[in-house]
Amino acid sequence: MKKVAIIDFGGQYTHLIARRIRNLGVYSEIYNPEEFELKEDICGVIFSGGPQSVNAKDAYRIDFDIPTSPVPILGICYGHQLLAHMMGGEIESGESTEYGSTIMKCDPEAEIFSGLELQQQVWMSHGDHVAKLPAGFEVIAASDSIEIAAYQSKDGKYTGFQYHPEVTHSVNGMQMLDNFLKKCTDQRDWDSKHFKDDLIQMVKEESAGKKLILLLSGGVDSMVALELCIAAVGNENIYSIHVDTGFMRQAESADLKIHFDKLGYQNIKIIEAEELYLKQLDGVVDPEEKRLIIGKLFVDIAQGELAHLKSDEDWMLVQGTIYPDTIESGDSNKSAKIKTHHNRVEEIEKLIQAGKVIEPLKDLYKDEVRELGTELGLPDHLVHRHPFPGPGLAIRVICSDTNKTDGKFRNEENKMNELLAEYSMKGQILPIKSVGVQGDFRTYHHPAVVWFENEKQPNWNTLKEVSAKIINNMKSVNRLIFSNSVVPELRLEELYLEKKNLNQLRMADEILRVKTDILAEIWQMPVVQLPLYDEENNRCYVIRPVCSQDAMSADFYEMNFDYLNEVIRETQNVKGVGRIFYDITTKPPGTIEWE
Ligand code: XMP
Repeated sequence: MKKVAIIDFGGQYTHLIARRIRNLGVYSEIYNPEEFELKEDICGVIFSGGPQSVNAKDAYRIDFDIPTSPVPILGICYGHQLLAHMMGGEIESGESTEYGSTIMKCDPEAEIFSGLELQQQVWMSHGDHVAKLPAGFEVIAASDSIEIAAYQSKDGKYTGFQYHPEVTHSVNGMQMLDNFLKKCTDQRDWDSKHFKDDLIQMVKEESAGKKLILLLSGGVDSMVALELCIAAVGNENIYSIHVDTGFMRQAESADLKIHFDKLGYQNIKIIEAEELYLKQLDGVVDPEEKRLIIGKLFVDIAQGELAHLKSDEDWMLVQGTIYPDTIESGDSNKSAKIKTHHNRVEEIEKLIQAGKVIEPLKDLYKDEVRELGTELGLPDHLVHRHPFPGPGLAIRVICSDTNKTDGKFRNEENKMNELLAEYSMKGQILPIKSVGVQGDFRTYHHPAVVWFENEKQPNWNTLKEVSAKIINNMKSVNRLIFSNSVVPELRLEELYLEKKNLNQLRMADEILRVKTDILAEIWQMPVVQLPLYDEENNRCYVIRPVCSQDAMSADFYEMNFDYLNEVIRETQNVKGVGRIFYDITTKPPGTIEWE
C-alpha cells in the first residue's frame, strides 16, 4: 500500500495532518526528519509546521535531496518556509505575524485549488513568512498580510501553504489536501475501519491478565476508556477511583455517581479530597505550578488506594488521555510545551516509563472518542457533554498574589487605542496573564478588554476583525475580550484558590450553563474568574464559548447580543459577580482554557 510521509518538525498539528490524509483514504505515517528515508512505498511527502524560525542556526532541517525527489512535496507553515529555503528562496522574520482566520485570494488555475472559489478562509499561526521564492516557483495565493500565502513550482511538484489546511477552521482545507493527494496517487485504499475492535484487543494484550485501575474524572474520555476496559476485561477486573478535588462544578460529583450507577459500573470509589487540594494549592498562583500539584495529588491518591489493595505487582493504570493532551504537554520530541495536562505530570511519566500505564485513546481526537463512546453504547447525553478538564475549575480561577500593577504595558495601551479608533472602540490591557499558542509556541501574555465607545449595537464582523488586528499587531497581548458596556479602570486584588471564591464561580457557571446549554453549536464554554474588580467592587468574569471539532483549533461562538445581555444580567444576580466579558479570541492565538 502506498503511503504519504509526514515529516515532524514539532508542529502542534503534525498528527492532525496524518489523520486527515488517512480520512482521505491514503495511509500516512509520521517520521522524524533525522530518520527519514525515501522508500519505494512513499508516494508523497508533507513537511509539517514547527515552532522554530528557519533562519535560526539550529533550526530543524532534513537531509533530503529535494530537487531530485521523485514524489510531490507539500510544505505547511514551517514546512512551507523550509521547502522554499531549501530550494533557494528567502525567509523573513518579523512584523507580519498572523494568528487565526484570514481570507486569502487564490489562483483558480492552480491544480491544488481545483474546484474552489477565488476567496478562501484559512487558519494561520506564524511569525516568519516566505519573502522571496526560489527560481521556477510562482505565487498561487495571497492574503492582506502576506504576499506569498501559497506557492508552487511551475511543474506542480512542490507546493507550500503558509496556513494550516488540516484544521477544520480552514473551510476547504480538506479539498486542498485531497488535490495534493491526487498528485501523489490514484489509489485510495486506506480504510479507516472502526478502531473499536483493535482498541479492545490492545487493552486485552497490554493488561495481560492484570487488574486495571482507572482514574475517572467524570469527563467523556475517562468514561469511554472505562467502557472500553469493561468490554476488554470485564467489570470485575476493574477498580475505578473518582477524586472529588473540590474543583468540580455545581453538584457534579453527585450527578456522576448517579450516572455511574445507571451504567452498571462496579468497584467505584469516590474520594473526597477537597480539603487536601485546597491546602496544597494555598497561595499558589502560577498556572503550571497549579497543574503540577493537581496532577501529582491525583497520582498520590491513586497510589494510596493501590496500597490498600495490596496488589502492587499486579495492576496497570488506565488513563483516558487523548491526543491533544499529549501534544500540548510537549510529548513529540520537537514540539513546544503549551501546558502540562494532568495526565502528563512527572509521576505519571515515571509510571509510563515503568510500563504501568495503558492509554487506549492516546491517538484519538475528541470527535473520534465520542464516536467510539456511542459505538460502545454510552448514551448521547453523556457522550456529547462539553469537555471538562481534570484540573477543573482550578485553572479557571486566575489567581493573583498582588494588588499592584507594574504598568509596563501602558505605552502599549496607547498603541492599541490608536488601532481601535477607526472602529469607535476603546480598550484596556489587563494586569493579568493567560496562556496562548502562537506559531506552535506557548505564550503567557496579557488579555485586553475592548468595548464600543457609544455602546452601540455591536457587530460580530467588526469584533472578528478587531480581535485579529490587535493580537497580530501587539506582542504583549495574546487574548481579546469584549465588554457590552464601557469599562472603568479595573482594580487588581489578591485572589487564591479558596472555597468561597470557587463557590462563587460555581454559582455563576451553573447559571451560565443552564442558559447556554441549548446553544448546540457551542462545543465548550469555560467560565473564568478574574482577580479584577469594577467600580462597585464586584468581581469580573469572562465567558469563553467556542466552536471546535477536535480542540486543536477553535473559533469563538457568535452569540445573539440580546440573548448575551440577558445571560449577563441573570448571572450578575449572584452576589459579588460584576462585569462579565466575552472572549473573542480564536485558537490559535488563544488556547481554549485560560491557563
Ligand atoms: P486548550 O486550553 O489547550 O485545551 O486549548 C484543549 C482541550 O483540552 C482540555 N484540557 C485538558 N484536558 N486535562 C485534560 O484532560 C488537562 O489538564 C487539560 N487542560 C485543558 C480543554 O478543556 C480543551 O477542551
